[in-house]
Amino acid sequence: MSESTSQASSESVTITVGADGPLEVSGPVEIISADGTVLRETSKAYLCRCGHSANKPFCDGAHKREGFVDAGLGG
Ligand code: FES
Repeated sequence: MSESTSQASSESVTITVGADGPLEVSGPVEIISADGTVLRETSKAYLCRCGHSANKPFCDGAHKREGFVDAGLGG
């Protein structure tokens, strides 16, 4: 049982909400588009949450130019 727990832990995915910025996704992930196309297989990605990226779903830094403000604390 502890073996499977260890394996799950080493493959876990973490999503961190950045203050005034994107979602940082860490872990082995596939980013898949609405039509099922694999956009990226990676261990780290930054996903737009401000809505202004020209490269959605990825962050392109537009949140800074647009003055996106959200502390990222939830709620
Ligand atoms: S969060 Fe960076 S462009 Fe939207």
